Amino acid sequence: KTIFVLNGPNLNMLGKREPSIYGTQTLDDIAADCRKAGEELGLAIDFRQSNHEGDLVSWVQEAGGAAAGIVLNAGAYTHTSIAIHDAIRSAAPVPVVEVHLSNIHAREPFRHASMVAPHALGMICGFGPLGYRLALQALAARL
Ligand code: DQA
Repeated sequence: KTIFVLNGPNLNMLGKREPSIYGTQTLDDIAADCRKAGEELGLAIDFRQSNHEGDLVSWVQEAGGAAAGIVLNAGAYTHTSIAIHDAIRSAAPVPVVEVHLSNIHAREPFRHASMVAPHALGMICGFGPLGYRLALQALAARL
């Protein structure tokens, strides 16, 4: 079974980007940890990042036919993207676990709302890179 791990804008800057909020691990480090977790859980990991909303929409659509589940950190598009919200709905019943490195509810009010959450299996935030591993465990338990 394949899990798409999809990452949105600015997550390619991890390690350099506001380390007091996002930590010092790079996205490559997180990808490596996801692949390790995938091996332990018997899941193949297809890990991707894009700064473009349309790429994320296309990848969620693609996952609808090709993946057993999706781990999605849509970055700032989480808070704005009706297009990603709609793509998740149309990918159903493929389960989506929403992940954020930071605790979005402890930050600015504009980060409190999520367009992803209403159609996600669940949401994990505030645990840094560990959140990705927890999301994969949650999907493995569900599949
Ligand atoms: C984020 C939280 C978002 O509010 C922010 O725009 C990001 C990263 C996180 O992982 O904590 O880019 O999704």
